[in-house]
Amino acid sequence: MTLFPEMIENAMGVSITGRAVKAGHITVNAVNIRDYAQNKHNRVDDYPYGGGAGMVMQAEPVYQCYQAIAGHCREKVRVVYLSPKGKVFSQEMAQEFAEEKELIFLCGHYEGIDERVLEEIVTDYVSIGDYVLTGGELPALVIMDAVSRLVPGVLNNAESACTESFSGNLLEYPQYTRPEEWNGKKVPPVLLSGNHRLLAAWYRRQSVIVTAKNRPDLLGKAELSEEEKKLVQDLEREGAWEI
Ligand code: ADE
Repeated sequence: MTLFPEMIENAMGVSITGRAVKAGHITVNAVNIRDYAQNKHNRVDDYPYGGGAGMVMQAEPVYQCYQAIAGHCREKVRVVYLSPKGKVFSQEMAQEFAEEKELIFLCGHYEGIDERVLEEIVTDYVSIGDYVLTGGELPALVIMDAVSRLVPGVLNNAESACTESFSGNLLEYPQYTRPEEWNGKKVPPVLLSGNHRLLAAWYRRQSVIVTAKNRPDLLGKAELSEEEKKLVQDLEREGAWEI
């Protein structure tokens, strides 16, 4: 539900999500709230009661739009309202949403939407981070992208969803491709060894290092071996983050 359906269609229509739509793994319907305007000027906003800057989206067009969509959905379809006031989006939330057959995203504009319709239809208030955007479309797209890639069939490599960042609360290890030497820098020799045991150990160690360096807040939730805990302590002590 949006005032800018072309924004959603354009972004979802390319790259991996575009391919997923064409293959029928996911379906995207961008519905224009303005089509449910109650007046001949197609206005959907009005001045806020109590005064103040900006305009507020009216309850009735949003409600009519919702009713039209919900008529085609399962009974308990979740309605996600994008707002900086919501719970901060995470990979865990993406996984939870990916289990739903259908989701409705409600994108607000102007200074927000009349609270009464939000109370009536919204099940989840979600923010994508502590900053304010001009509308809910980009946050909705962020969530749709993160959720789509967890839908079976969307990624052709099932493994990449398990080893990537945030699985096990660690960030992903660094990646290299050809050539073997670039700009005087060599690929770490272990990657050329073909020894799977050594490789797995190297990936794991690099994940711990990059997480300790960039997101030490995640380490508390990661399951680290005694050896890995010692590595983190050593890194903290030395402040030596180089590999
Ligand atoms: N709308 C405006 N800013 C937002 C944010 N950070 N997250 C979700 N919705 C928003």
